[in-house]
Amino acid sequence: MPSPSPDLNIETSREDATPRILHLRRGGTSVVVDLDASPTPAIVHWGEELDEATPRTLEGLARAAQPQRVSGGLDATARLTVLATPAGSWLGTPALEGHRAGAGFSARLALAGVQSDGHRATLALVDAEARLAAQIELRVGPSGLFHQRVLLRNTGDTPYTVQALQLAFPVPWDATEILDTTGRHLRERSPQRRDFTFGTHLRESRRGRPGADATLLLAAGRPGFGFETGRVHGIHVAWSGNHRTLAERSVTGEAFLAGGELYGPGELILASGEQVASPWVIGSWGDGLSELSHRFHDEWRARPQHPRRPRPVTLNTWEAVYFDHDLARLTALADAGAEVGAERFVLDDGWFHGRRDDTAGLGDWTVDEDVWPQGLHPIVNHVRSLGMEFGLWVEPEMVNPDSDLARAHPDWILRGRPELPPSARQQQVLDLAHPEAYAYIAGRLHALLDEYDIAYLKWDHNRDLVDAGTGPEGEARVHAHTLAVYRLLDELRAAHPGLEIESCASGGARVDLGILDRTDRIWTSDSLDPLERLSNQRHTALVVAPELMGMHLTSPVVHSSGRTVDLALSASVALFGHFGIEWDLTKTDESTRARIAEWVALAKRLRPLVAQGRTIDVDGTEPGIDVRGMVAADSASAVFTIVQTQTSIAYPAGRVRMPGLDPSRSYRLRVLDLTPPHGAGQSNLTWAEHDTVLSGRQLAAIGVRPPVLHPQTAVVVELIATD
Ligand code: DGJ
Repeated sequence: MPSPSPDLNIETSREDATPRILHLRRGGTSVVVDLDASPTPAIVHWGEELDEATPRTLEGLARAAQPQRVSGGLDATARLTVLATPAGSWLGTPALEGHRAGAGFSARLALAGVQSDGHRATLALVDAEARLAAQIELRVGPSGLFHQRVLLRNTGDTPYTVQALQLAFPVPWDATEILDTTGRHLRERSPQRRDFTFGTHLRESRRGRPGADATLLLAAGRPGFGFETGRVHGIHVAWSGNHRTLAERSVTGEAFLAGGELYGPGELILASGEQVASPWVIGSWGDGLSELSHRFHDEWRARPQHPRRPRPVTLNTWEAVYFDHDLARLTALADAGAEVGAERFVLDDGWFHGRRDDTAGLGDWTVDEDVWPQGLHPIVNHVRSLGMEFGLWVEPEMVNPDSDLARAHPDWILRGRPELPPSARQQQVLDLAHPEAYAYIAGRLHALLDEYDIAYLKWDHNRDLVDAGTGPEGEARVHAHTLAVYRLLDELRAAHPGLEIESCASGGARVDLGILDRTDRIWTSDSLDPLERLSNQRHTALVVAPELMGMHLTSPVVHSSGRTVDLALSASVALFGHFGIEWDLTKTDESTRARIAEWVALAKRLRPLVAQGRTIDVDGTEPGIDVRGMVAADSASAVFTIVQTQTSIAYPAGRVRMPGLDPSRSYRLRVLDLTPPHGAGQSNLTWAEHDTVLSGRQLAAIGVRPPVLHPQTAVVVELIATD
């Protein structure tokens, strides 16, 4: 089913005044498009802003990008243009593939019109022979992100099946190293690197959600690029269903990244006159990954719907009680949460009809009468009386075969065959694109939100979509399902102003800017192990602004890894995100709760910095030491954490740098004293014992001796400008 999308409003005649070269620029980025490239325009530059460019030099740039004719090749050497296809001489991965019931495979769209206004352009493309029209939208955002999307319309009178539709982003030829992310449950967004050699590095998501192994960012840069240095370009597909990203280097001298939605067989058949919009594919670049990621953070923060009020410290019940819902126990947990300063209490899985464990109940979204004879009113009222917001866990897209819903409407379950698809967590997926299924789920959610004072939904999604369709002989449904989820989220937010929603999917298996355009945070991972979280959070922040990433204190023995960790480590690692707690506080003693309260108070004090500041990741620290920080937008202050993940070889370790501050300002350093000394700690550490002031340049280039710490401990250092 094609998506609703803006109308194709194509100017079909190209006017004489159309400039030959388009120069889009904003936020430190330039995109230069040669409109005369054949058969469609070619992006001849995406990257640093060309302030000095004149019409003459832009023309020169376009000429400089043109390939020579070489032996053994096409007479017009293959070239990467927008919406490149074989009929247009492109022999790499095509941007568009499709057909009309097995015929009419060829497409060669040509420029038919251009609209542009400085940082935005729309290129109208037409292929009269193939009876296709396309509109490529190019936009450079306020922080220099480069957005591309394509609208494709079938102008013929027979159906056109779209097999592939993706957008290409050329990268410099000397970008010879690739970084992307992969992962699994409890270890999402693990980075991997490889040489960017000739051929295609293809990453696909076929799970109906991005998945724990998703490529959040596919980046290519100069060899050895890190967070602080090295020119690097990367793309993200802002889509929550199946998608693909690829990096390709051709022997005709083109290197590019490309991305788009991945359509199932026959999933996208455009009827006569029908059109589809691709997801936005978003590119960023920088000298170092930090600069690249700051463009994502800044632009996301500038959206009108961005959550701006201080992120409420969240107490989530999952690891505290799991399915053991009991009013007295949860009331006591809420009391303990309020005592340590929590501001939001989220009742996780287990509250609804028949849900005593994870084998039953999904789909039956009424409050369980046995466990909650008075509904959720007693717990909601108690939480509200403590001054906390109430949040509720839901998993609206899912259904357990053991549920009243599945028994009543087996036809609402996605499947490709008579039997159900392979089971996962004993559950199946509802066909949300089915109008009645959608109406039922929407109705239940509205009813809950109307009945209870719910400020927040934790929206979970605990399985991959497998063989997802409308039944035997039916249609593939991931595309339609993804759009239905977006519609439902949009409708709920419109109907319940102020409602916040978290995107959770077995931890962090649905993290993308499509879902984050209509939700307020992601659950970053089910792993609460602070050591495992270091890499997960660092690489999630490549695209996601830190205040949108749920980071919770773990109980002392981490449930997912069995590791015993100290509160100070867990809290230090959770500081640079949306802070929360996932721990049965009723089992803690008073002094532990007092310590937790201190960390909560610190998280509250630092949250404006986290919400507006720049994330800093420090390259080149020795194995065993992790240094990262948040620097205030006005550079007047910063906080860094130094985490000793394992023992270092150097003893004491060499100096660690704290970059990102104003080089010309001076900063007073202070180790926050709620971090208890571990190992030698701060004693004998001269800079920590004295009033020590360093310039931003000295901190960035030279640094300080880190305290000698036991493995798995951390310190927090605050830096305040002295002026
Ligand atoms: C997976 C989530 O990631 C957890 O936080 C929790 O909400 C469970 N699902 C509940 O089933």
